[in-house]
Formats: sequence, C-alpha cells, structure tokens
Amino acid sequence: MKQSFFVITIILGLAFSVRCSYDYSKNEFPEGFVFGSAFSAFQWEGAIDEDGRKPSIWDTYLQSSNGHELIKDIDCDGYHKYKEDVRLMYDMGLDAFRLSISWPRLIPSGTGHVNPKGLRFYKNLLNELKRYGIEPHVTLHHNDLPQALEDEYGGWIDRKIIDDFTAFADVCFREFGNTVKHWSTINEPNMLASGGYDLGVMPPKHCSPPFGVVNCSRGNSSTEPYIALHNMLLAHASTARLYKQKYKYKQNGSVGITIFAYWMVPFTSSQKDKIATQRAKDFYLGWVLHPLLYGDYPDVMKKIVGKRMPIFSEDESDLVKDSFDFLGVIHYTTFYIKHLSNSVQGDYNLDVDASLLPIGNSTMVSFDVLPWGLEEVLEYIKQNYGNPPVYILENGQPSNHNSSSLNDTGRVEYLHAYIGSVLKSVRNGSDTRGYFQWSFMDLFEFLNYNYTYGLYYVNFTDPERKRSPKTSALWYSAFLKGTTKVHKNISVSSSPGFFSQ
Ligand SMILES: *[C@@H]1O[C@H](CO)[C@@H](O)[C@H](O)[C@H]1NC(C)=O
Ligand SMILES: *[C@@H]1O[C@H](CO)[C@@H](O)[C@H](O)[C@H]1NC(C)=O
Ligand SMILES: *[C@@H]1O[C@H](CO)[C@@H](O)[C@H](O)[C@H]1NC(C)=O
Ligand SMILES: *[C@@H]1O[C@H](CO)[C@@H](O)[C@H](O)[C@H]1NC(C)=O
Ligand SMILES: *[C@@H]1O[C@H](CO)[C@@H](O)[C@H](O)[C@H]1NC(C)=O
Ligand SMILES: *[C@@H]1O[C@H](CO)[C@@H](O)[C@H](O)[C@H]1NC(C)=O
Ligand SMILES: *[C@@H]1O[C@H](CO)[C@@H](O)[C@H](O)[C@H]1NC(C)=O
Ligand SMILES: *[C@@H]1O[C@H](CO)[C@@H](O)[C@H](O)[C@H]1NC(C)=O
Ligand SMILES: *[C@@H]1O[C@H](CO)[C@@H](O)[C@H](O)[C@H]1NC(C)=O
Ligand SMILES: *[C@@H]1O[C@H](CO)[C@@H](O)[C@H](O)[C@H]1NC(C)=O
Repeated sequence: MKQSFFVITIILGLAFSVRCSYDYSKNEFPEGFVFGSAFSAFQWEGAIDEDGRKPSIWDTYLQSSNGHELIKDIDCDGYHKYKEDVRLMYDMGLDAFRLSISWPRLIPSGTGHVNPKGLRFYKNLLNELKRYGIEPHVTLHHNDLPQALEDEYGGWIDRKIIDDFTAFADVCFREFGNTVKHWSTINEPNMLASGGYDLGVMPPKHCSPPFGVVNCSRGNSSTEPYIALHNMLLAHASTARLYKQKYKYKQNGSVGITIFAYWMVPFTSSQKDKIATQRAKDFYLGWVLHPLLYGDYPDVMKKIVGKRMPIFSEDESDLVKDSFDFLGVIHYTTFYIKHLSNSVQGDYNLDVDASLLPIGNSTMVSFDVLPWGLEEVLEYIKQNYGNPPVYILENGQPSNHNSSSLNDTGRVEYLHAYIGSVLKSVRNGSDTRGYFQWSFMDLFEFLNYNYTYGLYYVNFTDPERKRSPKTSALWYSAFLKGTTKVHKNISVSSSPGFFSQ
C-alpha cells in the first residue's frame, strides 16, 4: 500500500478532526475579500451527450473503467438545474462562485465550430449569477480536454495545444468577458501533469513501466509530465498575453493560473529529510511558480531531470515570466516528506527521491485538520514568490457519502480552522483576496461518489438529484451573513434557516 498511498489520496481527496483555534467573523477580513464555493463542469453538469457536447478525456477514461453510466446518468444534472443551484448559492450568502467551462461543450471538436447551445448554456448560467450579484471566477480548463485533441495529437504533450487552447480562451473572453472578471487558465497543472502523464491515475492515463500505478497503454513517465506541464505554462502565458492585448482595456478583468499546493514538512529532523523537503517543494510548487516568477525552472529540477527537462527559449521565458495577475491556490492538507534514495515506487514524482507520508491519524479517506499548513503555504508564496495576489480556489474536506452524513460536524471544524488560518495569513501580510470552499454540493470525485466534499448533500439515486443542506452549509451561511463571531460548533437550530425559503 505504501506506493499507492499518495495516489489514493489524489483519487479520493482529503482531510479531518480538530481541536479548535479561535473565533472570528467575516467582517474581520479586509474589505473586498470574497468568499465563495465551487464546482467544475464535468463534475456538476451531467448531460454529456446532450445539445452537441462531444466527449472529453474523462468520458473516455470512465468508459474504459466501466464508470461511464455513473457520470452519464447521475452527476448533479447541473445542466438542467442551474437556476435552482444559483438560487441556493444566493440563499447561502456567497459573494463569488468558481466554475469551469467545458471545452468539449463549447467547441466540441476542440477547434473550429462553436456550439451555439453550449454558448447559450454558459451565457444563461453567467447571467443567472449576475442577476443574484454573485461574482463568477471561471476556470477555462478543469481537466476535461476534448477527446478529439487527445486523438489528434496527444493533447498536452504536443505544442499544437498552445494555439488551440488560446483559440478556445479567445472565444470565452469574447463571449463571456463582459460578465467574467476573474479567469483561471488551467486547473492544477502540476497535479494534471503528474496524475495524467506520470502515474496514469487520471485521464489521459499516460504512463510507462515501471512507473505508472496502473497498466499503461501509452506514454512515457520519464518525459511526458515535464513536456505536458511545459506546454500548459506556454498555453497559459499565450492566453494571458491574448487577454492583455485584446480584451483587458475594455473588459478590465484579470487572468491567473492555479497550483495544487500540499504543504510539506520533514519526517525527521535529519539533514536528509530537510533537504528532501525543500527538493519536494521545488518539484511540486517551484515547477509552476518558478517559471511564472523568474522565467525558468528551479535549478534543482534542471540538475536532476537533466536532458529530459524542456527548455524555455528566451522569448518563451519572457512570455511566461509575470504572465499572471493572481495565483489560485488549491490546498487540502500537509504531508511529511521522507528522503528515499533510488525510489522506484510511485510517489507523485519519482525524480524527487522522496516519499509523502500522512500526518497524525490521517488515513486514506480522512485527514487530520492541520490549518497551519495553509498558513505555511501562503507564507512560502509570500516570501519566495513575491507575495502575488492569491485566491484560495479550493479547500475542503471529504467524508463518506451516505444519508447519515448530513450532520457533518467534522467538515465544520475543518472549515472553521482553515478559514481562520487564512485570516491569520492576511493579517501577517499575505495578499490573499478570496476563499472558495470545495465543493458547493456533493460531486463525482474522480472515480466514484463514495467520498464527497459538498456543503449540500446530493441524492444520486433520486431522479431529481435532490439537494439537502448539511450542517456545514448552515455554518458557512451563518458565517457569511453574520456580523458576529462564529464558533465551529454552531448548531442547526441556530442556523438562519435559509433552506426553508
Ligand atoms: C495489470 O496487469 C496485470 C497483468 O495483466 C494484472 O494482473 C493486473 O491486475 C493489472 N492491474 C490493474 C490495476 O489493472
Ligand atoms: C522515454 O523517453 C526517453 C527519452 O526520449 C527514452 O530514453 C526512454 O526510453 C523512453 N521510455 C519509454 C518507456 O518509452
Ligand atoms: C478595473 O478593475 C480594478 C480592479 O478590479 C478597479 O479598481 C478599477 O476601478 C477598474 N477600472 C475600470 C475602468 O473599470
Ligand atoms: C489522533 O487521535 C487521538 C485519539 O483520538 C487524539 O488524541 C490525537 O490528538 C489525534 N492526533 C491528531 C494529530 O489529531
Ligand atoms: C456514513 O458516513 C459516516 C461519516 O460521514 C460514517 O461514519 C459512517 O460509517 C458511514 N456509514 C456507512 C454505512 O458507510
Ligand atoms: C450532530 O453531531 C454532533 C456531534 O457529532 C452532535 O452533538 C449533534 O447533536 C448532532 N446534531 C444533530 C442535529 O443530529
Ligand atoms: C509573518 O510575516 C513575517 C514577515 O514575512 C515572517 O517573518 C513571519 O515568519 C510570519 N509569521 C508567520 C506566523 O508566518
Ligand atoms: C463505492 O461504494 C460502492 C457502493 O456504494 C462500492 O460498490 C464501491 O466498491 C466503492 N468504491 C470504492 C472505491 O470504495
Ligand atoms: C434518495 O432518493 C431515493 C429515490 O427517490 C429514495 O428512495 C431515497 O430514500 C433517497 N435517499 C435519501 C437519503 O434521501
Ligand atoms: C459551542 O461553543 C460555545 C462557545 O465556545 C459554547 O459556549 C457552547 O457551550 C458550545 N456549545 C456546544 C453544544 O458545545
């Protein structure tokens, strides 16, 4: 199990259990700080064969693992229930909401023809948010690459993706840019490159023996993760340039990118573990952040990865450097890092020569609540990467999805602790401007519905996909609406009762 611990955490998600910290209220955050929640297109919409949408690499992945029916028939049916869901967001008191646009719904073949029904759907959804005064934060690519581009040239491993992604973004800016002022280009490029091209646990499931943790049919785990991420950075930067040149003067929005950011601490006080921890930070965080700030990969990566590391030309380096208005931070938990020499087992990235180990009572589906980890991530970004504007674009806790999970006091403890840590960071100078809880409702999380993060419970066997607020929804709403301090132990009876409206 050792080799797959990390992998399973990728698949299932994270979190758990805390002794509480301190009380605070929303109005202690700086003016303009936004609170939201989130979901992504593929996890929420359903309707995968409807109105001209074509498959994404996730559809294909699930088809091959017999999960197709799950997603096709179940999902949250957001495509048809978006009005109801936006109303729930409003009732909860959210300032903002993070969602993504499905590329294969908008441009079904990846390039060329824009699907008018896809266009209409996103216009309707964004207008509905606007009607309720909820600020949309839109992610352009949340893992659902059009299958057509995977078939044609292998998706992210070919440079053709740079122009195709930029053209997709161009359509989005042109059509939705009057409403959307916050764009994130790519969701978790570091996780996508590792999960999709090294370990093969996520679509497009590329990997090569002996590295992948599943039987790989294609790919090269030694080279493709680096190539894919390189192309993601270039596609991001090309898109950011397009926005600056063609749209910013009239739309006045901003373009950022997200990063998957576990925090990491040495397993022991040995020098080896300390060095391994810094190396891991460079490989996981620096891989994306260093090029964005300094135009090149971290030295330690270039040294270890050697000839397999793609090289930025001078023009590309200039393009990537400073190509973001804000950074989207995705944080769930903290791991120990243990030095390993000649690691052959699948711990995220084999060149790191380090292993990730859980902290405390964490198990594969339940993690201790370690809010200081988020503070450390924000402090690290502040000190090493120029304190850019940050939005926490995902943070949350999974739990068993069953009918007795409505009273999710563990999730309330988690959110209370982590939002408190954001406040501490802001007070200590971090330029963090928003917090988005993951996820607004229970969603299809990678491979099943067994462990979900929702504030709302979704009954996936009900044809109506009924949504019911969990205790965490009531707590978050009380926090968002309150002018007084909130405590983690708020009870349902003291809730504002918005769900009865
Ligand atoms: C991989 O292939 C081997 C041999 O064909 C098989 O025994 C094993 O179950 C497969 N593993 C997975 C995860 O599919
Ligand atoms: C991966 O690519 C490298 C560099 O091109 C090559 O040496 C290696 O043999 C490839 N591995 C596989 C499994 O194809
Ligand atoms: C542009 O956006 C910034 C920050 O969101 C805001 O302060 C400024 O007033 C806006 N300018 C215009 C012309 O709308
Ligand atoms: C682990 O669980 C034990 C017993 O419930 C508890 O006393 C301890 O504080 C927990 N450790 C962490 C790090 O949460
Ligand atoms: C239902 O979920 C709760 C936690 O959310 C868990 O303690 C319990 O074991 C689960 N029940 C079943 C039958 O899986
Ligand atoms: C929810 O769970 C908490 C602790 O687990 C308990 O104290 C509380 O009474 C429960 N609330 C309801 C409505 O069941
Ligand atoms: C607060 O910020 C200062 C200056 O960046 C830093 O030295 C200090 O370690 C930070 N404190 C915490 C708790 O992160
Ligand atoms: C998820 O739950 C279903 C039953 O609800 C079970 O058949 C399946 O094995 C579970 N999958 C995982 C990965 O736990
Ligand atoms: C979910 O919906 C099904 C079908 O309507 C119903 O039988 C079941 O009781 C519901 N489950 C919960 C927990 O509400
Ligand atoms: C909840 O916390 C408050 C403030 O610490 C405390 O006064 C109250 O007794 C607690 N309620 C429960 C049910 O634990």
